Amino acid sequence: MALDRQLLQTIIGEFTVDAEQLREVAANFRQDLKLGLIDPKDSSLRMLKSYVGLPTGKETGEFLALDFGGTNVRVSRIKLEGAGRFEVIKKVGKPLIIPGEYDYIGAESTAEQMFDFLASLIDEAVDKDHETKFYLGHTFSFPSNQTNLYNAELIIWTKEFKTAGVEGKIVNDLLKTSLEKFGLTNVEPIAVINDTVAVLLSAAYQHPDTYIGSIYATGQNNCYVEASIHDPENAGVGGMILNLESGNFMKLTPNRLDVEYDEGSEKPGEQRLEKMVSGRYMGELFSMALSEIFEEKGKNYGFTAIDMSSILMDDTIDGDRIAAIVKDKADKNVDSEECAKIKQLAAAIVVRSARLVTAAYVGMIWHRTGTGKISRQHIAVDGSVYEKMPLVQENINRALSELLGEEAANVDTILDNGGSGLGAAIAAAMAVNHNA
Ligand code: GLC
Repeated sequence: MALDRQLLQTIIGEFTVDAEQLREVAANFRQDLKLGLIDPKDSSLRMLKSYVGLPTGKETGEFLALDFGGTNVRVSRIKLEGAGRFEVIKKVGKPLIIPGEYDYIGAESTAEQMFDFLASLIDEAVDKDHETKFYLGHTFSFPSNQTNLYNAELIIWTKEFKTAGVEGKIVNDLLKTSLEKFGLTNVEPIAVINDTVAVLLSAAYQHPDTYIGSIYATGQNNCYVEASIHDPENAGVGGMILNLESGNFMKLTPNRLDVEYDEGSEKPGEQRLEKMVSGRYMGELFSMALSEIFEEKGKNYGFTAIDMSSILMDDTIDGDRIAAIVKDKADKNVDSEECAKIKQLAAAIVVRSARLVTAAYVGMIWHRTGTGKISRQHIAVDGSVYEKMPLVQENINRALSELLGEEAANVDTILDNGGSGLGAAIAAAMAVNHNA
């Protein structure tokens, strides 16, 4: 069956964000930051206090870092050497779900099972050493209310996590209980941070002039240093980092497919921006669009962001690899022209994502800059979509230029690969210094 080309063209149009819309999203983001600082209830940005500012780069010592926020959990032992240098001494990791074997993120799993699993991984990272004292920094990449660096209470699961009994709980308390069960009373969780905060700490440890941290992966979220907030509980310098939970940013217009996806999602009405841009959702939108084009609306082909990346990377003349992926997932035979169209659809979804993410970056830059000139700065980004998805980085740069004109030359994005782990270690060091 041939695909409906006209519909495909219409859908590509629905995923296009023009210059005017881009500027409007950036301006709305800036406005929501302003409103959120006065009262988060008036903003779709959660503006969560992290109780940590920027590191000095001189933090030293050996720390445990737990990185928990996607389908893979990692625990590392990291030695901070000061002067922006560090060494990863050991690293272990495991997925939270192996279909058919175990699943710690589904609705059937409990908080206890999930945190016992984390504790067992920590046990592996310390080589079952139950004597030596270890301070642990915990990158917990979900919206959490904090009252200090230790105390983080999960507000709501995102990224389609469903584990029972964690929402509303202090996550480090759950972790502590599990650590005790494993005889790991020598491991002391001392700091919890969001992954965006971790990336910012990690990048700022190595590069001054970094004030914005971003994750662009399964989920998408940003944080920045708010210079106006001072709090005795705040560790570090330069103000307080706010985790925006900007995946929940609402002041933008979803298209027909976005609305449909949201209605059938785990948390309808939540995470509008994230559902339009992050890796977890781009594959879903692509699948939905293709099911319409193949006149099988409602069928889930299960395309992932990785499939989209492979489709965009196919440089064969006839689109052989695209045809193979479409055959595999949707059981459809497509000719070379149709492959080119399908590639355009994938591109439209990815380009929209990069443009909307950039609008948020610019909203933060405008907010931090105020009325002056934009200073030289880096935006630290980690995540597979940023790192590996074709078209993303070039479209971020293009959108930065569109929005900032010549001043875009002062801003660049830098990849901070592995920042989630390093940032957790830095946060632990900052908490130790602060408590000293
Ligand atoms: C989701 C989470 C957020 C996290 C992001 C990236 O948006 O709510 O806390 O930073 O994913 O992992």
